[in-house]
Amino acid sequence: MESVWQACPPKKDVTKVVTLCNTEDAPLSTTSGQAHSSVDVAKVQQAVFHLDHISKVYRMGDNEIHALRDVDLDLQPGEFVVLLGASGSGKSTLLNILGGLDRPTSGRVRYRDHELTSATVGELTQFRREHVGFVFQFYNLIPSLTAFENVALVTEIAASPMDPDEALGLVGMVERRNHFPSQLSGGEQQRVAIARAIVKRPDVLLCDEPTGALDYPTGKLVLSVLQHVNQTLGTITVVITHNAAIAAMADRVIRISSGRIVEVQRNVTKASPEEISW
Ligand SMILES: Nc1ncnc2c1ncn2[C@@H]1O[C@H](COP(=O)(O)OP(=O)(O)OP(=O)(O)O)[C@@H](O)[C@H]1O
Ligand SMILES: [Mg+2]
Repeated sequence: MESVWQACPPKKDVTKVVTLCNTEDAPLSTTSGQAHSSVDVAKVQQAVFHLDHISKVYRMGDNEIHALRDVDLDLQPGEFVVLLGASGSGKSTLLNILGGLDRPTSGRVRYRDHELTSATVGELTQFRREHVGFVFQFYNLIPSLTAFENVALVTEIAASPMDPDEALGLVGMVERRNHFPSQLSGGEQQRVAIARAIVKRPDVLLCDEPTGALDYPTGKLVLSVLQHVNQTLGTITVVITHNAAIAAMADRVIRISSGRIVEVQRNVTKASPEEISW
């Protein structure tokens, strides 16, 4: 079904992309995010997502809001990325563009061999359905369905889903499979929401403040689940948070300010959620 998407233009443009998109191919340590210096061609070519000079402008009457400004970003297979930034800096806008919920005003978005920037609404829906899992601050489970049924619902429209109980097992919720959302704690509901997001075996799991509504120990538990899923399934995981402590568990930390990537940090060693505190 992927073949309906417009394929990326070949080599000529890929070369250009390589030149412009080494935001995160920096040495191990803190670096400037928008530098375009040395290029690891092989790494860029294997990127799952490739964002090239993305800008997003919202127009409200006579006002223009520049939510993203000239953002370059690659996401490599299996990496865990934390996105940090002040309120209004553009984090959710970037996540929504990655997940095909929104389009950039200018720039290009590539997913594997496919150009998403020019995809139709239907193609973007298909892209999200097959390849993207979303987790939000509020769990959005269907109240009249059990945990199992909430997860199983997704398997009916997914191409090659896992068994719902397998997904619930990955988040430690099999024993609660027959509970309705109202019979679950916030953290348990969020774990079911994660199971629902991963049951279709997405390439990328996009999490917008997944611990924002949870207390400290529950937030840690949910982070452990996200790390476990990332390590077990190899799903690229992007987590938006206001909590800088969470950055220690990421492969890569991307800081956004006023719509720009201002810093990219690669962690040589990653902390487990148990090791971090805030
Ligand atoms: N649909 C929209 N229409 C107009 N402006 C928008 C829209 N969505 C976002 N914005 C504006 O774009 C900017 C970036 O918003 P975004 O939601 O990406 O920020 P954020 O970093 O996720 O913030 P927060 O941490 O508060 O969630 C903000 O100034 C916001 O007001
Ligand atoms: Mg946001």
